[in-house]
Amino acid sequence: MSTVAVVGAQWGDEGKGKVVDLLAEQADVVVRYQGGNNAGHTLVWGDLKFVLHLCPSGVLHAGTLCVIGAGVVIDPLVLWEEIVRLRKAGYLRREGDLKISSRAHVILPYHRILDVGREEYLGEGRIGTTGRGIGPAYEDKVGRVGIPFADFVDRKRLEARITANLKAKNVILKQLLGRDELRAADLLRQLWPAARRLRPFMADTSLIVHRAAKARRNILFEGAQGTMLDVDHGTYPFVTSSTTLAGGVCAGCGLGPRQIGRILGISKAYTTRVGSGPFPTELKDEIGKRLGEVGREFGATTGRPRRCGWLDGVALRYAARLNGFTDMAITKLDVMNGFPEVKICVAYKWKSSLLREFPDDTRILEQCRPVYRSMKGWSVAGLERIRSLKRLPQTMRDFLRRVEDHSEARVALVSVGPDRDDTILLRPLF
Ligand code: IMP
Repeated sequence: MSTVAVVGAQWGDEGKGKVVDLLAEQADVVVRYQGGNNAGHTLVWGDLKFVLHLCPSGVLHAGTLCVIGAGVVIDPLVLWEEIVRLRKAGYLRREGDLKISSRAHVILPYHRILDVGREEYLGEGRIGTTGRGIGPAYEDKVGRVGIPFADFVDRKRLEARITANLKAKNVILKQLLGRDELRAADLLRQLWPAARRLRPFMADTSLIVHRAAKARRNILFEGAQGTMLDVDHGTYPFVTSSTTLAGGVCAGCGLGPRQIGRILGISKAYTTRVGSGPFPTELKDEIGKRLGEVGREFGATTGRPRRCGWLDGVALRYAARLNGFTDMAITKLDVMNGFPEVKICVAYKWKSSLLREFPDDTRILEQCRPVYRSMKGWSVAGLERIRSLKRLPQTMRDFLRRVEDHSEARVALVSVGPDRDDTILLRPLF
C-alpha cells in the first residue's frame, strides 16, 4: 500500500508542513482533508520561507497533484490570494495541478464576523479561535445551510443561498452581536470574482483520489491541527470544528478505510498549544520561555505566542490510541539542545489518584498535575547537520526510545532543524 496519512499527535503546530513537504517529493498526490485556513504550514527551503494556509504542501513540487478534499472548509478569498502568491513565485502554473472538491464548503465573510463576534461575546470563556470563521462554516455545513463549492461557483445558486442564509445571520449579527446587517448584493460583488477564477479547479476529488489509490500511486494525506484539537476526542470545547484524527482522512477525502496504509504521527520533542484550554505540562517559567524563544513558537496563522511545556507522554499514548500510528516523526529536537535535563510526563496526578490514561472529561484534565520522568539532556555542536541516528548522543536516542514506548510506533523521521534538509530519515515511508 502506498498511502501515508500525516497526523498531528498534539495540539497542532507539530511541524507537519515540513514533514509533508519532504514526503511530497515521492508523492504523486497530496490531499488536504479537513480544517481550513486556520492551519499555517511553514516550509523552509534555503532562503525561501513559505507559509501555506489552504493549498496542500505538495504545491512546491512540480508534477505533484494537489487536492483539497470535501472535508476542508475554504475561504475563497484567501485561497485565491494564496494561488496568486504561489504563481508569482513560479509554482502552481497549471490549473490541473490543483483540484478542489465540489463538495468542500466555503467560508463566507459572515462566518468570520460570527467567529470573532462570538469570541468577544464569550469573554473569559473564549476558545481562542483563529478568527477565520472555521467553526461557523462547519456549523452551517452540518446544519445543512452551508454552501458547497459547486454552489459557490454557480452565480444563481450562490445568490439564492446567500439571500436565504442572510435572513438568519442578520438577526444574530444585529441583535446578538450589535453589528451591521449584511446585504446579499455586497457579498456577491465581493465573492464572485474569486468564484469565477476558482471554478476551473473544481473536480470530483473523491473519484480522483480513488483512482490514484487503485493505480497504487503514492498518496499523501496532509492533516491540519492536531489530535487534541479533534472535535470529538480533543479537549472539548477548546478544540477546532473538524475531525483531526487519522479516521478523518476517509470521510474528508471520500475514501474507504482499507485504502489508508501508513499513519505517521508527528510530535514535537516538547509540547505547544495556542488558544485557551487545559495543558497539563505547560511551563510558565524560564524553561517555557526558552522553548518559545528558541523554537520561535509563534502561530503561523495569527502570530500569537504559543504556550510551551514538556512532552506529554500521557497525551501521546492517547493520540496513539485514537490514530493507530504506524510510525512517528519527532520534530524540533534541536530546540532542546543544551538543556541539562529534559522531562517527559508519564502520568497525571488528579486529586489523590494517579492517572495513566488521558481523562475523558476536560474538567478533570484541567485539574491534573503532571508526573515527570527526568532524563539527561543533550548538547551537540552542529546538530542540524547530523543525518544518521548513530551520530546522535545516547541521551537523545534514549529520549526517542521513550517516545516510541508512548506512541507504540517506531520513529521513522527526526527533525533536527527548520530547513527541509535538517532531517534524519530512518525508514522510507513510501
Ligand atoms: P479554530 O480552528 O479557528 O476554530 O480554533 C479553535 C482552536 O484550535 C483554537 O485554540 C486555535 O488556536 C486552535 N487551532 C486551530 N488551528 C490551529 C493550528 O493550525 N495550529 C494550532 N492550533 C490551531
